[in-house]
Amino acid sequence: MPTGATLLSGLSLRVASGDSVLIKGPSGSGKSTLFRAFAGIWPFAQGKVSLPADTMAIPQNPYFPDGPLRDALAYPEPAARYSDEALRQALEEALLPQLATRLDDQDAWSQKLSGGERQRLALARVFLKQPAWVLADEATSALDEPAERTLYQRLAAMVKRKGGAMVSIAHRPALDEFHARRWELEAARDGGGAVYRLREG
Ligand SMILES: Nc1ncnc2c1ncn2[C@@H]1O[C@H](COP(=O)(O)OP(=O)(O)O)[C@@H](O)[C@H]1O
Ligand SMILES: [Mg+2]
Repeated sequence: MPTGATLLSGLSLRVASGDSVLIKGPSGSGKSTLFRAFAGIWPFAQGKVSLPADTMAIPQNPYFPDGPLRDALAYPEPAARYSDEALRQALEEALLPQLATRLDDQDAWSQKLSGGERQRLALARVFLKQPAWVLADEATSALDEPAERTLYQRLAAMVKRKGGAMVSIAHRPALDEFHARRWELEAARDGGGAVYRLREG
């Protein structure tokens, strides 16, 4: 941590092709921090992380640049890399058909879209780029349960087709069935230096 406190230590975790792992834990237990460490974007972690090249992370608060919708969708790649048809299809797959006709609309998307729409746009980005490995940090938490299920089915199918794996952070029991393994963060009682420990289930 920036404060010097140790949230978690002594972890050795491995995700293999075909795996689906669900990370659960109380708010503030370090799920997003662990996720950032996995994604290689947390400067305060010590240790080693190897990621397959074909990995995409969906952060808890995804970023969308202002401007044309197609740019927000394809970010950080240039939108010109994708055909209109591919962009539209990704939006439809992510349950955003109402945006599929608005690729050239300019807006401040981060502010204009609702929380659930932002999450669907982040998933549309994943469906557009078709990574084999996905890290998802509460990627569907603002959605209603039927939409969450539909999107997770599609995400799981994509990962399976591509031969990768999926690691999710999520609270709702509805997502249990999409994951074969579980890592649970819980308060450490032994006082061994870290505030939380991770139990593999
Ligand atoms: N950039 C940061 N600077 C300082 N503290 C942080 C930062 N990010 C997260 N934390 C702290 O680390 C702890 C774990 O946060 P987080 O990983 O977001 O938890 P979770 O995702 O499990 O709710 C919290 O106490 C949070 O306040
Ligand atoms: Mg979090």
